Amino acid sequence: MSAAYNIAIDGPAGAGKSTIAKELAKKLGFVYVDTGAMYRAMALYFDRQGIGTDDEEEIGRACGDISISLRYEDGLQRVILNGEDVSGLIRTERVSQLASAFSVYAAVRQKLLSLQRDLAASTDVIMDGRDIGTCVLPDAQTKIYMIASVRVRALRRFRELTEKGQTCDLSEIEEEIRIRDHRDMNREIAPLKQAEDAVCLDTSDMTVAQVVDAIIAAALARGLSAERAGR
Ligand code: DC
Repeated sequence: MSAAYNIAIDGPAGAGKSTIAKELAKKLGFVYVDTGAMYRAMALYFDRQGIGTDDEEEIGRACGDISISLRYEDGLQRVILNGEDVSGLIRTERVSQLASAFSVYAAVRQKLLSLQRDLAASTDVIMDGRDIGTCVLPDAQTKIYMIASVRVRALRRFRELTEKGQTCDLSEIEEEIRIRDHRDMNREIAPLKQAEDAVCLDTSDMTVAQVVDAIIAAALARGLSAERAGR
């Protein structure tokens, strides 16, 4: 096991993983690694090339032309696709669905696996995604499986979009969440599921502060020093 302390957070779309992970990273002085952003950047590349989600051969070929890296500005992760900062371009509903659809392929997952593992080997990280506790970092000291009801997750997303001034439909958002959950949980390679040694947190009725505290408590019980946790 590496000397770095790793916290893995997995869960379905909209469960609050990134909000919590960012907050935790700030509190603990860890680096936050958002693996979904990497899958989104790859999806953006395939989409720009006009590659369809069913074209496994072309997807495999294109993987060789893609370089993904992360950069941190003011503690915030930026994702770089072949030298271009695409962080602002990958947060659309289209890219969400495409990332889910392209991420079923072995070539796509393989491409990101070593990058993710390398980041966690030497650095204290909070890494979130779908397969972090089960596949990417099976030795992570703390693993969290974060869930919330579809209704709550759709409402959170609805409020987020409405605050940005976008018009949206709650039932459509619910449907999109259901489609993505189903695909992410039922794919053959590295599907979303709770690791055996993960702590499950249902955030439906929890505040951000409560979830952050629960994760710090779990990490303290799993070898994180009290000094590190600021306790
Ligand atoms: O976390 P997110 O919504 O940004 O992720 C977008 C998609 O990427 C998600 O629906 C499935 C895929 N993904 C994955 O397969 N494995 C990960 N570790 C992270 C994301």
